[in-house]
Amino acid sequence: MVKISVITSKGGTGKTTTAINLGHGLALSGKRVILIDCDPHGDLGLVFSAEAEKNLSDLLRTGKTTVTQVRHNLFLIKSGGKSLTETELAIANRDGREFILRNALSDLRNCDFLICDCAPSRNLININALALSDQVIIPVSMDYLALNGAKHTIEMMREVRRFTRANLDLMGILATQYDVRTNLSQEIYEVLCKHFPNKVFETVIRVNTRLREAPSYGKTIFEYTINSTGSEDYFNLTNEVLRMSQ
Ligand SMILES: Nc1ncnc2c1ncn2[C@@H]1O[C@H](COP(=O)(O)OP(=O)(O)OP(=O)(O)O)[C@@H](O)[C@H]1O
Ligand SMILES: [Mg+2]
Repeated sequence: MVKISVITSKGGTGKTTTAINLGHGLALSGKRVILIDCDPHGDLGLVFSAEAEKNLSDLLRTGKTTVTQVRHNLFLIKSGGKSLTETELAIANRDGREFILRNALSDLRNCDFLICDCAPSRNLININALALSDQVIIPVSMDYLALNGAKHTIEMMREVRRFTRANLDLMGILATQYDVRTNLSQEIYEVLCKHFPNKVFETVIRVNTRLREAPSYGKTIFEYTINSTGSEDYFNLTNEVLRMSQ
């Protein structure tokens, strides 16, 4: 199983959009995928209208949760909303607090991909997600603050690697919300390639209004408009991740 955290400390860069559409893209290609919503906002549960008795908050507190099937081959552990924030405080003094999620999911077998959609912060839930993961995708929207977010996230990965001895690799930096009409997008993309040689995904996710609309219809981009640049870009990203995971 390939375990991926989609994470960066900057908000609004396309983490959730990537978790949803990469997750569904992989599921459509025949892989079994489990999404874990690590953000108290709970956007994944909302988009997939998922009903679940238990969630990530319960998993961290009790080791038990509900895995909801949301599409063919696609499964979800909901976040727990506000209770996830309370749980973060409740587990802060536990021994081995960084490994609670990893231990709780150690029996998880029959999935090909696990994808954590992280919140834009440096919190214990994200550290648990990183300690569980073996790969990281950092979405960078085409602005300077997002670039800074990527640098902070790489530092955080280093720290987690050091004190958890996790096998954590940067799968790639993903250029998102790329506006082909502006020079800024091109400039930031060049800076990314220079700073992170061989670590920027070939696929670039362009600005596409359809990607913004799809969640309000409870759909992924592949269900909402297959003939869109958003669908084309996430299809290409799916194939790139599949190639890298062979
Ligand atoms: N390529 C894109 N084109 C147009 N809109 C996009 C694109 N990617 C994401 N968006 C929109 O930008 C907003 C932020 O995206 P998203 O929620 O995926 O970011 P996030 O990194 O998960 O945010 P947060 O840090 O708050 O969790 C959403 O309204 C989303 O629909
Ligand atoms: Mg999000």
